[in-house]
Amino acid sequence: MNKNNRSTNIEESLLPLSLANGQSGKNSIRKNGQSAKKNGQPAAVNRILEHKKDTAQRLTYEKPLITMHSLGATNKYTGRAFSSSTCQEIDGVNVPRLLSKFGSPLYVVSEQNLRNKYREFIQALRGLYPDSYIAYSYKTNYLSGICSIFHQEGAWAEVVSGLEYGMALEMGVDPSKIVFNGTHKASEDLIAAIKGNSMIHIDSFNEIYQLESLSVSKTKPANVGVRVNMNVSYPPWNKFGFNLESGQAFEACRRVASSGSLRLNGLHCHLGTYVADSGAYYQGIMRLIDFALKLERDLKVQIEYLDMGGGYASANTLHSQFLSGAAIVPTLEQYAHALCQPLRKRAGEFKRKPRLILEPGRGLVDEAISLVTTVVATKRFEDGRKAIIVDAGVNILPTAYWFKHEIASTQDVGSNLETVNIYGPLCMQIDVLRTEVRLPPFQKGHILVIKNVGAYNMSQSMQFIYARPAVVVIHDGKAEYLRLPESPKDFRRLDVMPAHLEVK
Ligand SMILES: Cc1ncc(COP(=O)(O)O)c(C=O)c1O
Repeated sequence: MNKNNRSTNIEESLLPLSLANGQSGKNSIRKNGQSAKKNGQPAAVNRILEHKKDTAQRLTYEKPLITMHSLGATNKYTGRAFSSSTCQEIDGVNVPRLLSKFGSPLYVVSEQNLRNKYREFIQALRGLYPDSYIAYSYKTNYLSGICSIFHQEGAWAEVVSGLEYGMALEMGVDPSKIVFNGTHKASEDLIAAIKGNSMIHIDSFNEIYQLESLSVSKTKPANVGVRVNMNVSYPPWNKFGFNLESGQAFEACRRVASSGSLRLNGLHCHLGTYVADSGAYYQGIMRLIDFALKLERDLKVQIEYLDMGGGYASANTLHSQFLSGAAIVPTLEQYAHALCQPLRKRAGEFKRKPRLILEPGRGLVDEAISLVTTVVATKRFEDGRKAIIVDAGVNILPTAYWFKHEIASTQDVGSNLETVNIYGPLCMQIDVLRTEVRLPPFQKGHILVIKNVGAYNMSQSMQFIYARPAVVVIHDGKAEYLRLPESPKDFRRLDVMPAHLEVK
């Protein structure tokens, strides 16, 4: 054998172990007529010993599986039924190099994509209804750098707890530009919000009484809005606010309007999340307009703003969806159209034209962030199907329970695809990132890019078994940290060890 040409010859790797251990005998091997001994060993044994040194670099042998060829399979709506893409770069930065520098797995944020999404939405809204505002929904992803990008663009903040309210203040948001939603607001947070003239949206009768009892100012009533739920999308989000159709919302507004310490200023409605039907927003705002006009007439109040919440879908695809999200969800422009056209027509019926506020989360951040992960093992099930295990689990990608996230490969995607299940590394059978996805054949060390993961993954991630990874942002062709990877110290930082529990 040519020494420089260290063979990865399968024939050799299959030689019996007895030979590799230097035992010869009946089964001694002759190849190319060679049988010369060196160091007292037959040549074949020397070859194997040499070869064993290389095993760390060698790919493991995998039994081939014959599957039906589905190249060119199509469906009548979107062309190719199975698609798989390549992604070697994110905003001009090489993905494998990112992993070498920052480690795997890694969340990668495209700053340009975040800015583009915000601009696309606000321009579409203001082009149709100039008095429109976007309050970025913090809970979707409240990483400081991400909130800051939206605030630099001019976004207000939508928060649902004292914790988030404090974050918005820390980010430098003017308190009067903070929308304060949520079912449970602590009294000290409500007092701060009243003093800051924030937009407080009342969620229950209890909250009306709570706010009245706080009576921050004897002379100036607190400005509040009332959250309304309605039956225009499925499932209706009726856990929140007061129902419109039953008359409960009118009752709540009447109660607020008659209060000496509260002033009914606005109406709020959040239809749900991933509402992939712009028609629901058209129906929703029409009903809210009718309701606001009734309040102005019957209760002699002035409705200053209508807040139509969030829920705008991203290009992700639900497990239950046949067609891809990218093919069917409305664009931000279409949502803007559904909301602004009716408002534009009917704004003149109000005492004063109301402001329009939206609270998008997913629609702004989801498509700007990818999770890059590395294959750590490949497996075959007993029925022959293939599985790969990657180093990112559902603890950092909880939306895998809802969506068939698009998976791209950093290698070239040829036509030679195979159907695989992708699992995370957690010790739970439900740690499944995708099932039956068509991908090029993967080996340990290959890199995958999981797309559209910006919404609700970082804020809902949990530390479980593995440390949470770093987050980097790409700006001007360079990557910088937005969040450091967790260290073992971070896990135990808040633990307290009572003296009697110490191991002596
Ligand atoms: C009141 C409110 N506003 C805005 C949002 C943001 O929703 P999305 O991320 O679907 O746009 C939510 C999320 O559930 C919400 O509860």
